[in-house]
Amino acid sequence: MTSTSTLKLQAVPVDKEIEHLIKSSKDLSVGGTTTSNYGPDPDGLKILPESTRKRLVEAEIDISEGYPWRPDKAKIPVFVDEAAAIRDDDYEYIERAKNADPEKKALFGAAKEVINLTNHIGTEIVGLQLADLDDKQKDELALLVAERVVVFFRDQKLSPQKQRELGDYWGRVEEHPQAPQVNGLPGVSVVWVDYWRGVFGWQLSFKNNSLANWDAVKHLSPGPQGWHSDLVHEKRPAGITHLHLDAIPSTGGDTSWSSGYAAYDKLSESLKKFLDGKKAVFVSAHGYLDRNNPFGGPKKIERVHPLVRTHPATGWKSLYVNRAMTKRIIGLSSVESDLVLNYLFEVYEKNADIQVRFKWTPSRPGYGTSAIWDNRVSQHSAAWDHEGQDPRHGTRVTSLAEVPYFDAGSKSQREALGHSLDERDFF
Ligand SMILES: [Fe+2]
Repeated sequence: MTSTSTLKLQAVPVDKEIEHLIKSSKDLSVGGTTTSNYGPDPDGLKILPESTRKRLVEAEIDISEGYPWRPDKAKIPVFVDEAAAIRDDDYEYIERAKNADPEKKALFGAAKEVINLTNHIGTEIVGLQLADLDDKQKDELALLVAERVVVFFRDQKLSPQKQRELGDYWGRVEEHPQAPQVNGLPGVSVVWVDYWRGVFGWQLSFKNNSLANWDAVKHLSPGPQGWHSDLVHEKRPAGITHLHLDAIPSTGGDTSWSSGYAAYDKLSESLKKFLDGKKAVFVSAHGYLDRNNPFGGPKKIERVHPLVRTHPATGWKSLYVNRAMTKRIIGLSSVESDLVLNYLFEVYEKNADIQVRFKWTPSRPGYGTSAIWDNRVSQHSAAWDHEGQDPRHGTRVTSLAEVPYFDAGSKSQREALGHSLDERDFF
């Protein structure tokens, strides 16, 4: 008598089978992960810029077995419902900029120089080390970032640990499930196009790096040059992002930012009224599978946010859209939505007077440069004109902010500051 008659066959659900298949396969991938290897990458060490190595070693980051740290594929969500559930919990967000002295005496008093790089966006602070800021100065810096959209600090000695600490102060630091990170420091993501080209096989060239839009055919983004805002698919999208470059091309690799406050104020008062209170669907950069239709192709996380949002510290309205991730305006037909969105993207992208283009070069060799910006009120885009000839490497920490809201009583920046909103040619 055998025991086979007592065996019960249990059917494995299809989604579980697919999940297992993808996570255990070297070749199958979801969400842009192309390797099943994880942990420190020995191949990264081979192209690690000397200035980056020095910074990591000084900070006692263990890179003896490789760099950067690749996330564990088994922990990367396969299905879109799992991905959307990450950080979907409720918690209290503290807006540090609200505690700040509006005159920012502690921050400006300690700086050697405060230089507004353009009239509407971008300020450089000279003679201060980010690593040395006290809480009062950090609050004031958060307010300055909220007002000026992006603030720069050259000649910084900044460890990745200290960078993470600053991010923790300004909000919950986003720990990206897909992004390579500094060893031992989840939440300190690596910004390193040379590595992505080498290891992830990014096919970047002079001709294709500015396509800007997500390539729906290949289901990948062809380059860093497209205008975008970070992490808009989150329930609480990115607030302050801090990018610190420790390897900077001698020429090229500039980053540009465009102001969302000013983009909103570029619109006619009639169009502003039409857009106020409207909502839009925002999608994630990465794609996942639909559990109920796994063979239907990649699917993005979708999240609804206001199209015009009010910044909690400045109280100013900002146009919250970007070409890479805003899919449609709710309440309009798809044709109308495309038409309006395309115009709004162009307002952000094509008005040089509301943009700042920053050259990262530090004035002292061996030091890094930091840019700290507010994603709630801006878009950015990096120029890949160095074409990988010169190394460019940085670490990025993003603090997530509040659930976006629109306050019908809030004002635009120019309205609040009493600047002209003249419409003499709008007849
Ligand atoms: Fe970005």
